[in-house]
Amino acid sequence: MKGRLIFLLLILLLVIVQYSNSITLELIHRHALQLNNNGPITQQQRLKDLLHHDFIRHNIISHKWRQGLQPTTRSTRQATEGTPSAAIEMPLASGRDFGIGQYITSFKVGTPSQQIRRLIVDTGSDLTWINCRYLCAAQGDNCTKGRRIKRRRVFNARLSSSFRPVPCFSHMCKVDLMTLFSLKTCPTPLAPCAYDYRYSDGSAALGVFANETVIVGHTNGRKTRLHNVLIGCSDSFRGPTLQNVDGVMGLAYSKYSFATKAAENLGGKFSYCLVDHLSHINATNYLIFGANHNQVTVLGDTRYTRLELNLVSSFYAVNVVGISVGGKMLDIPLQVWDTTKGGGTILDSGTSLTFLTDPAYQPVMEAIKKSVSKYQRVKLDGVPMEYCFNATGFDETLVPKLIIHFADGARFEPHWKSYVIAAADGVRCLGFLSASFPGAAVIGNIMQQNYLWEFDLAGNKLGFAPSACSSS
Ligand SMILES: *[C@@H]1O[C@H](CO)[C@@H](O)[C@H](O)[C@H]1NC(C)=O
Ligand SMILES: *[C@@H]1O[C@H](CO)[C@@H](O)[C@H](O)[C@H]1NC(C)=O
Ligand SMILES: *[C@@H]1O[C@H](CO)[C@@H](O)[C@H](O)[C@H]1NC(C)=O
Ligand SMILES: *[C@@H]1O[C@H](CO)[C@@H](O)[C@H](O)[C@H]1NC(C)=O
Repeated sequence: MKGRLIFLLLILLLVIVQYSNSITLELIHRHALQLNNNGPITQQQRLKDLLHHDFIRHNIISHKWRQGLQPTTRSTRQATEGTPSAAIEMPLASGRDFGIGQYITSFKVGTPSQQIRRLIVDTGSDLTWINCRYLCAAQGDNCTKGRRIKRRRVFNARLSSSFRPVPCFSHMCKVDLMTLFSLKTCPTPLAPCAYDYRYSDGSAALGVFANETVIVGHTNGRKTRLHNVLIGCSDSFRGPTLQNVDGVMGLAYSKYSFATKAAENLGGKFSYCLVDHLSHINATNYLIFGANHNQVTVLGDTRYTRLELNLVSSFYAVNVVGISVGGKMLDIPLQVWDTTKGGGTILDSGTSLTFLTDPAYQPVMEAIKKSVSKYQRVKLDGVPMEYCFNATGFDETLVPKLIIHFADGARFEPHWKSYVIAAADGVRCLGFLSASFPGAAVIGNIMQQNYLWEFDLAGNKLGFAPSACSSS
């Protein structure tokens, strides 16, 4: 009897420990902040903006994807980067595109902590960085010149006792952080490990890598302290900077990413649930570190498929093997899904629409077009989407069910609104963008909407369950 009681108490304790070992953050869409301060924007303008970002982002992903598929890139970099002044040029059009995820959250950094309000949450970023003031530690930089971040919220590293710059002589700086563009220069062994990102438009971000304490807290007051989180302290920018954001929370899968660090401390997993921001700009979305204990209610069974970690770069790759529309498996060559043949699929929170490489794009578009062909086709000004139509009196039951099939038998059935998307007043468009093959297919955040996605990093699996993304 006594033993049973102790056993029950133990279980209860375990449940409590588990529960408290999970943190829920609210995410809002970038558009809800109206970061451009140009007043309310129309649905069509929003879509244009999302597409603009999507194309830039797909370029970055393709660049990293090719690098990830070619193991020789690393040594090439070492060979060409011998000179101290050499910096890496990012495949971005402008510094403004640095960290172009779509969802925003906040956390606190340092001891005593300082609030970082607007952080872009990005499953495509390895590095977590914040606007920051330290020394202009990058070699040869002139700190006195007006290149500091002006009139911007910054983290003052000098006021934090837990800010620990990574020394430039360390293995971490010289080897591990090389993929994050650490500089080779090391004037004295303990000088901070510096980075210098250059963009093709001439803008640049300079800063140092440091370990810091990050405090993540839910709105209800509970919080968790994460120690030794790698952050980039971006000291100065040249050229156009990110508009109105204070940094990026990197949720990609890599040794020093925030996702990995948070997962280490919080049950090995993180999840998010995103709602339809094309119709409700202010909607609340959730990001959970640790297990979901009903913070977000799911409306059906959770299905699991293998999460391919470390397969290509730091992306969250999945093993898609086919797409069916209206119950019919489409004729798509298998190499499209095969990373060893230059294909493959990733799930990305920072891309809005879904990219399919041509051999998949064509049959998917054809199959869905057929079902909506009775509606008048329209061309939306400045919206580079192939097929839009006048949706006055639209009958949604005409939309065929689209299913993404995974190698292990799991099936993902997105809501029809996620692929026949609202584009403007009374207009819907087929929500796919075409990419050239070889290349990566990217399942974007609109396709992911109204599902709870669980990235189980410890268990190498991806769980997904339909959800209204609301708490009970
Ligand atoms: C910094 O800028 C000032 C004024 O432009 C210049 O006189 C000085 O030599 C510069 N210092 C370095 C280290 O470049
Ligand atoms: C930073 O943290 C990493 C673990 O994430 C640790 O290996 C490294 O020694 C730390 N460096 C400093 C300078 O604190
Ligand atoms: C959305 O948010 C804006 C400002 O954040 C607010 O003015 C507006 O009333 C909100 N709309 C709804 C429907 O909640
Ligand atoms: C759609 O069709 C209706 C009438 O059938 C028309 O009134 C409306 O202007 C059309 N909308 C667009 C965007 O073409």
